[in-house]
Amino acid sequence: MAPPMFRELCLLLALPILARGQVGDLPITTSNATALLPTFSLPELPYSYDALEPSISKEIMTLHHSKHHQAYVTNLNAALSTSIDSLTRGDLVGYSSQLSAIRFNGGGHINHALFWQNLSPPSSSDSSPDAAPKLQVALEATWGSLEDFQKDFTTALLGIQGSGWGWLVREKGTGLLRILTLANQEAVVQGDTPILGVDMWEHAYYLQYLNGKAAYVQNIWKVINWTTCEARYVGETEDVFADLRSVIG
Ligand SMILES: [Fe+2]
Repeated sequence: MAPPMFRELCLLLALPILARGQVGDLPITTSNATALLPTFSLPELPYSYDALEPSISKEIMTLHHSKHHQAYVTNLNAALSTSIDSLTRGDLVGYSSQLSAIRFNGGGHINHALFWQNLSPPSSSDSSPDAAPKLQVALEATWGSLEDFQKDFTTALLGIQGSGWGWLVREKGTGLLRILTLANQEAVVQGDTPILGVDMWEHAYYLQYLNGKAAYVQNIWKVINWTTCEARYVGETEDVFADLRSVIG
């Protein structure tokens, strides 16, 4: 289904522009309309490609970041540019044809950018749950213990059919914690705060674990960045994807 917020936003912005034939004081051209678009780029990893070994191999991290994530960024920018080009020509069919690509690649970019920050070298103090004292209290209040939360989260991750993501989120409004699974590259866009995400696409583990998905999940607990989780839980992190999340939601 097409993302209504993005469609409505573009129509609200574009139709008045199309009606008067200009962007600001300038005549409409693809170049000056496209110049209004943000350009997304691949974020650098906060650690080296081999820093998560042995839980996640250097080969996986290299391909996952430099090829898979880069492809989402490249394809997102291309789809946004093509959609605006279509709008400036009044081609609403051409514009609509880009919506699924914007939603898929925009979600892929958001999910991976959040995921890299959720990981930490196993030797780092960030990889200890002690780095998330307030979150630990909330996890224990919700699940009884950290171990019980990890057990339920692991079950949810292994229950994902096909490609997708598992998330620990803090619900908007209630502030309660809950586990969420999303298919493909759907992103957490409903106002909830993503605290901890795990990529369950085969490209995240297959080169190292083959069909041993359970071993991948078991080992990823050794490289979780609990400092990041804590900062997201207490609201200390800026949602740099707020605009993108809103247009694909
Ligand atoms: Fe991935």
